[in-house]
This record gives sequence, structure tokens and C-alpha cells, in this order.
Amino acid sequence: MSIIGDPRATPHPEAAERAAVIDPAAIRHNVRTIASYVHPAKVLVAVKAEGYGHGAVTAARAALDGGADWLGTAHVSEALVLRAAGIQAPILAWLHTRGTDFAAAITEHIDLGISGWEIHHVARAAESLQKPARVHLKIDTGLGRNGCTIEDWPDLLRLAAQFQERGLLSVEGIFTHLAVADEPDRRETDEQLQVYREALTLAEEHRIVPDLRHVANTPGAFSRPDAHFDMVRVGVGVYGHSPFADRTAEDLGLRPAMELRTSVANVKRVRAGQGISYGLTHRVDRPTSLALIPLGYADGIPRVAVHAPVWISGRRYRSVGRVAMDQFVVDLGELDTDVQVGDEVVIFGGDSGIEAADWGSAAGTINYEIITRIGERVPRIVVDSELTPAAGGATSSVHAAASPATPATPPRGPA
Ligand SMILES: Cc1ncc(COP(=O)(O)O)c(C=O)c1O
Repeated sequence: MSIIGDPRATPHPEAAERAAVIDPAAIRHNVRTIASYVHPAKVLVAVKAEGYGHGAVTAARAALDGGADWLGTAHVSEALVLRAAGIQAPILAWLHTRGTDFAAAITEHIDLGISGWEIHHVARAAESLQKPARVHLKIDTGLGRNGCTIEDWPDLLRLAAQFQERGLLSVEGIFTHLAVADEPDRRETDEQLQVYREALTLAEEHRIVPDLRHVANTPGAFSRPDAHFDMVRVGVGVYGHSPFADRTAEDLGLRPAMELRTSVANVKRVRAGQGISYGLTHRVDRPTSLALIPLGYADGIPRVAVHAPVWISGRRYRSVGRVAMDQFVVDLGELDTDVQVGDEVVIFGGDSGIEAADWGSAAGTINYEIITRIGERVPRIVVDSELTPAAGGATSSVHAAASPATPATPPRGPA
């Protein structure tokens, strides 16, 4: 029997063709969960990289609604976007180049992470603006990335003290970043904390005693109470994902804030031996049906992912063959499948039970990369599960967002 044709009169007309459905309620819940865990430490939520793919402004507003004290970005340009959206909360930006607009940061009350060379540029900008810069000195305690080495730390402190005396800057914080907090048994975290304490003592000797000492990322917040200090800087946990290999988001009391969904673009029956996708790296070993999923590596689906889980209308299947730019294939496992063109597909999140971490495992990477790389071609649809009447979770509330006629509290709009 041929399956060419339109098997459904109205195949999910309300669903977006493809969407990353973002639930601010999940972000608020996760911030509250982390804040109560680290209390009395403050919470800075990292909204860099478009809020880990969720939309920077959407994520920032939800985080602040959930009780975040600070926002964090890598770049000043990212922080400026938040200011342009009217967000007045304290923001720290920590990764700069010679092209960074320090003057704009100072004008817009954006705190600057300082690892070394930047201090001269920031002081000059402050001098010409006649306005002190607010800075957080960053010590590299072992990660070997950004941050001042402990050897150069006294020089940086001396400069900071001089500029502070001249009224060009005020040191608001001293911070560092952990390298292996996601593996709580590793001794390097103890070593990093030891170096950090030495750096604080040296700072005190230079009469630099800032209010905000901050060290812990999400894994540090959950696994190292001794790294909480005055504030934690958390990202992945706020978006509802676990940084640990052996603890799920649910174990940590977190709820994923993104559901990546689309619908089946084609279904067809094939003979045993049919090759699948570029390179023909996979051939089916029996007659079967294939579903075509209209998301590809241009949308952030990793090209190397194999046998990744995919939810189609309530059942789990596996991807086969290489992911292409716009699409990939799922083996439905039987000729007489119920799956039809237009059926709902969830890649991860929602009620699927599939986590971004599962795609990470299939692609040899981590959940962080999966969520942050969802492409611009995938619209972010913001649906607040707590504001949508009778919402049964993100899946049903998608329909509310997609339908302008639904009398739900309006979502904040695509990010
Ligand atoms: C300096 C800094 N602090 C905090 C974070 C947040 O880390 P996580 O997402 O693991 O909580 C990051 C993210 O990479 C970071 O670069």
C-alpha cells in the first residue's frame, strides 16, 4: 500500500514548524531552588550566549523574577543588549578584547571582570568619562584560561589600589572559575580554593576587601558549599540541566526550560539494505519505515550524533545515519507504522523524558553545547507554564503561544 498522500485532514495546524519552546517558569523555579541551596550567598545567573540558547532577555527577566541578584555575560556587548532591553539589575561581563567598549560599559553601569591588561584601558575610559569603573578582579587559581596568575596578582592588586585611590575604579569583587567541580572527588578544586584564599589574603594586604567573593559555578554550587562565599555564578542549572554525569536534573530538583520540537516531514517505507543519508554510513537490515525530521546541523543538531533518542507521538525511536544540514532520519522499526506526516516530534525536553544530555552522549559532547547551539533558524517561543490556563506543561501550552486567539496571559514574545 502506498503511503503517499495527505493522511490527516488537519495535521497539527497550531504547532510551529520547528520551535525551541522556552518556559520562564522553569527558569524561575531553578533560580529559587539554587538560591535556597546556597543561601545566604547571592546568585548571579549567567545569561551569556543568548541565555545558553534560551534568549538572553527572556532568560534574564525570568532569572530576576526568580530572585537572581546579578546577571553575568562573557562580553560587554551582551550586557549592553540587556541594558537596551531595559534591564537595570547589576551585570558583570568578564571576557574582553582590545575592541571591547569599556566606556559604554562604565556608562551603562556594567561591572567588568579584570584579568590583567584591561585595567589600563578601563582606567583610561573612566578618566575620560569622569566616572569610576566598577571592577571584579579575576584570579586564575588553576583553570588556565582567563584570570591573573598568582605570580602577577600582586602587580594587578597594586595597580587596582592605585587606580582606586585616584577614583578611577572601585573593586567590587574578586573571583575565580573552577575547572573540575563537576567531578566532586577531584582534589584540584581544593587546590583552587586554597589559591583563591591566598589571593584574598594578598588583596587584603593591599587594602582591597571587596564585598563580593565569588567562585562557584553550577557544579560548585551543588557540590562545594565551601565555594559559595558571597555569591555563586550559575548557568546550566538555571536552564534545568545537570552538570554531573551521575546526577540528573531531576535529582537536583531542576526543570529543563527548553523543549525542542518539530513535526514529521515525511514517512516512507524502504527495503532491507536501504542506505541512509550522506556517506551511507547506515543501512537498514530489514524492510522498515523511515520518518524524516526537519532539523539538521544548521539548527544545532550535532552532525555526529548517532542513535540519538527522538520522541514521536508518545513513543521513543532512534536516529539513523548522518545528520544533514536541514534534516535527519529516524528508523520507525516496522513497515506498518502509525507514524504519519505532521506527527509531533520532540528532540528533548517537555514530556518526552529525553534530556539534552542524551543528545550530548549521542554526539560525544555535553548538554551545555546541545542547548547553546540551537540555531537561529529555530524560533524561540516563550510559553510560561504558570501563566497559561490549564497548561499541562510546555507541550500543551505551545498551542496557547501559537494561537493569538487564546486568552492566555501573553507570553513575553519570541526572544
Ligand atoms: C566565569 C563563569 N562563571 C560561571 C559560569 C557558569 O557555569 P555553569 O553553567 O557551569 O553554571 C561560566 C560558564 O561557563 C563562566 O564562564
